Amino acid sequence: MSTDDTGVSVGVSSALQTLDWFDPEFRERTEFDVYALARGLPPQRSERTGEWYFLGYEDCREAFQRADVLSNNWLLGPNPLGLSTVLPENSDGDEQREYRRLLDPLFGPKLMEDLEGDIRDYAAQLMRPIAAKSHCEFVAEFTMPFPTIIFCRLMGFPLEDHPQLMRWKDVYMNSMTPFIARQLGITDVDADGRPSMDAVRRLTEQSAKEIIAYLSEILEERRRRPVSDVISMLVAIRRPDGAPLSEDELIRICFNLFLGGLDTVTGLLSMIVKHFAAHPDDRAAFMALMDDPTRVGPAVEELVRFHSIVAIPRRATTDCVLRGAELREDDIIQVVTPAADRDDARFPGADHLDFERAPNPHLGFGLGLHRCLGIHLARRELRIGLQEIHRMMPRYSLDADDPPIVGSGGVRGLFTLPLRVGIG
Ligand code: HEM
Repeated sequence: MSTDDTGVSVGVSSALQTLDWFDPEFRERTEFDVYALARGLPPQRSERTGEWYFLGYEDCREAFQRADVLSNNWLLGPNPLGLSTVLPENSDGDEQREYRRLLDPLFGPKLMEDLEGDIRDYAAQLMRPIAAKSHCEFVAEFTMPFPTIIFCRLMGFPLEDHPQLMRWKDVYMNSMTPFIARQLGITDVDADGRPSMDAVRRLTEQSAKEIIAYLSEILEERRRRPVSDVISMLVAIRRPDGAPLSEDELIRICFNLFLGGLDTVTGLLSMIVKHFAAHPDDRAAFMALMDDPTRVGPAVEELVRFHSIVAIPRRATTDCVLRGAELREDDIIQVVTPAADRDDARFPGADHLDFERAPNPHLGFGLGLHRCLGIHLARRELRIGLQEIHRMMPRYSLDADDPPIVGSGGVRGLFTLPLRVGIG
């Protein structure tokens, strides 16, 4: 086998140098082969995107903990869509710690526990018509509306607004992909159906205006008449000096909750159900323990590890060497949690589900200062969603004539998941 001047085989280095998280071919076919090829190598820079890819578990763990040289405000780097920063995700240092101190109590385990009954009711309501059919499209019928309806309930938005929220979410997270661009009615596309940057930028800007108008109205209403929802709690927050959060901060926080809370749960649930459809033994093992309160939590954590879904960007704030990567100021790195969480060196038998795995220090919810703010809600949605899905639809299989469409947006997941219900 020939090697390049760093001693890495030419096939391996070309796979890594052309790595692009948003490439549908990579996400659909080669993703885990590329991660396997990269095992044991230091982080590599993709010539195709100019970004550094951190793939090993220890590389990603360290990146999450090096806020001294890595910033969360990666939008200061190339930002062709003109996206604006969200809070606390794109803040750093004392500013981020202050936001978390103010926001963590709103998403604590006790408040999320109060949602248990509602989450179960929404799951059952969505599953009832699916369970009565022989065929369904599980993303449109369950994994998309489920977290969106819960999000509306949590924030205090009218539940019937959830289709509008799903559309806005797709504009932000997935409009660069041919499938969603088509659904959103974007006509300015190339031969592969990929939309032009201009078309996406126009749509993103238009949606941003709509979202801001929507949020401003609800924020104003809750200032006048607070009820028991997250928007009312947000407007009631006071800093130590007694000052409330500004309108701009509140909108950026709501944007972050919206972008963080929807596609993630949708993506993860769709990947889990697809896997269970193709691997009935794993599904049976999950169903055997799903009502055991001591075993279901660790099993859900193992599913989060196995189907870890996000690549998290960071921007280098200075020239430095990190895990062998020679970073220059403003370089962007991608911390690829799906690769880290399948690293055999940290998780023996990483490519297999092991519902008894302990310890299970996966990076699916991140690590360090920015660790997922919605973690207690996410775990609850995943556990209850999976329990209700399997209680009401114990048997299902993939539809050989209508394969799933794999997503290639910001989060790993599926755009469609056609299922045969009652068979398999
Ligand atoms: C399966 C579901 C979820 C997964 C896998 C997930 C994953 C993550 C990860 C990896 C981060 C770290 C980002 C970083 O280091 O920069 C994060 C942050 C965040 N997540 Fe989640 N998340 C999920 C669900 C949710 C939900 C339901 C919400 C809220 C309703 C939420 C809100 C947030 C927010 C606001 C942040 C930013 C925190 C900060 O920067 O301090 N997430 N999430």
